[in-house]
Amino acid sequence: MLSAPVLAQGDPIPVPDPNTLRPSQDPARTSNGLAMTPPMGWNSWNRFACEIDEKLIRQTADAIASSGMKAAGYEYVIIDDCWHGERDANGFITADPKRFPSGIKALADYIHAKGLKFGIYSDAGRKTCGGRPGSQGHEYQDALTYARWGVDYLKYDWCNTGSRDAEEAYALMADALRSTGRDIVFSMCEWGNNQPWLWAEKIGNLWRTTGDITDKWQGKYGHSWGVLNILDMNEPLWPHAGPGHWNDPDMLEVGNPGLDAVQSRSHFSLWAMMAAPLIAGHDVAKMTPEIRNILLNEEVIAVDQDRLGVQGHRVWRDGDREVWVKPLADGGRAALLFNRGAAPAEIAVTWEQLGYPAHLTARLRDLWAHRDLAPRSGSYRATVEAHGVVMLRVQP
Ligand code: GLA
Repeated sequence: MLSAPVLAQGDPIPVPDPNTLRPSQDPARTSNGLAMTPPMGWNSWNRFACEIDEKLIRQTADAIASSGMKAAGYEYVIIDDCWHGERDANGFITADPKRFPSGIKALADYIHAKGLKFGIYSDAGRKTCGGRPGSQGHEYQDALTYARWGVDYLKYDWCNTGSRDAEEAYALMADALRSTGRDIVFSMCEWGNNQPWLWAEKIGNLWRTTGDITDKWQGKYGHSWGVLNILDMNEPLWPHAGPGHWNDPDMLEVGNPGLDAVQSRSHFSLWAMMAAPLIAGHDVAKMTPEIRNILLNEEVIAVDQDRLGVQGHRVWRDGDREVWVKPLADGGRAALLFNRGAAPAEIAVTWEQLGYPAHLTARLRDLWAHRDLAPRSGSYRATVEAHGVVMLRVQP
């Protein structure tokens, strides 16, 4: 059995061999300085899966600019799985020549010309989840290719990784991206399997905490989960999020057919309370005014993007009734009265739950009604519709 040598007084304390350190323990590792607020954008997967081509991505970029999404802060246009062709004779990745005949560089240029940023997808295994070439064994080569194309964001998946060590695999790609000298936000997608919140702070900018979301309120559907299930998996991880390193409870289903407008509004509000990345996943060109009003609610977006970067969490629960609080940089709080149930319910937030003395008078603003409420102290009570929320900004 190995045992540590006993030190005599005055002996130098041994320094651990840096080669044996886990990547996250390497004192020389620094974070890349990106994503100081949760990334915002759009990703092709939730709505289109593998049915993507350059025309769809261009039209979506057009719609992000013309609908006001860009002005509201949605910045990254991200193509998910299935954009790939084969590797060429030298091992460089190429685009699917049928779906992306103009090539990825041309697409990135188009998106950049709109004042947007461009994101792409790969996988730490030999193949992606959709069976396209993965980056294993090609990490530096792929990072170089992405930088040449003008990629600003990489989502890096975890299918077909066999016995790979997640921390090593993600650190390797993080180092490859850093070596290009280009600012590339690094989105880690290993579904929370290896507790990335414990080691990824200086490796990636966001890490998935769960399996895939689907456009359902609740339940498990194959490998995917409804909004409430994802919510409950992500909520307890709140202490691990902060500027530059976020818990990612997966992309938004707002605007997809399986959620009604009330559920979509709750989903969006809860993601904002959790300082989650706001990556839309709907058909932007066909967005209804109702969905537009949800995704473009700048007061709710401001809660998500608050520069303090604290993930809000649940402070009270009684059956289907919940109160969530998120501290904000100006000393105020975002508060969410959330009703999971199928009937309207009365819910109150107390100043104690907000971390304020009960006698303190505070101003209140309703972020969905877009109106100021009368200042008050002690508590605030409202009737919340089925599956709905009342979202407030409280200002002492
Ligand atoms: C995984 C990811 C999804 C999506 C698909 C693509 O399931 O979790 O977000 O990227 O792969 O195949």
